[in-house]
Amino acid sequence: MKISRECFASKGCVKMKTAICPGSFDPVTYGHIDIIKRAAGIFDKVIVGVLVNVEKKPWFTIEERTDLLKKTVGDIPNVEIVGFDGLLVDFAAKHNANVIVKGLRAVSDFEYEFQMALTNNKLNNKIETVFLTTSSEHMYLSSSIVKQVGLLGGDISPFVPEFVHDEILLRIRQRSSLK
Ligand code: PNS
Repeated sequence: MKISRECFASKGCVKMKTAICPGSFDPVTYGHIDIIKRAAGIFDKVIVGVLVNVEKKPWFTIEERTDLLKKTVGDIPNVEIVGFDGLLVDFAAKHNANVIVKGLRAVSDFEYEFQMALTNNKLNNKIETVFLTTSSEHMYLSSSIVKQVGLLGGDISPFVPEFVHDEILLRIRQRSSLK
């Protein structure tokens, strides 16, 4: 028997699935874009949560990171970009989201992500964490690596959209003029 999504909906069984794609996005890379687009293909609504990672010293303010994301994935109809400062589970609950989507690049990500998923579940057990494996072409990519390559004069154009590339180079020039 074929059961369509409409069939469930007409019986009032389907809940709107809102997922949060959280991160510091300092700044957004092609790796993030891949995960956000794939999440948008799975969930009814995806809220990209631009959050503070207390362990990192950001190059971009939350507003700047949010703007760069809006320019990058803001045209996807079921994607919304929101900045937030606080607990991820509170952010998710505020937006009626029951799923957190994270990208897993390699085994090295696993322990940290596992710890965060368990902690978040302990804080709010109505929220599940789902992991998407990063596409093989983005496995090595992180915002920190991109900034490091840029600082050392390498070509960062394969890793980020053009306007993000220009913003990173601007930051690097500003940093070197402050020295
Ligand atoms: O892109 P990042 O830096 O790996 O993202 C980490 C982030 C921002 C998702 C994480 O630090 C986070 O959830 N911050 C919000 C504060 C919080 O809820 N901390 C407890 C989670 S264990």
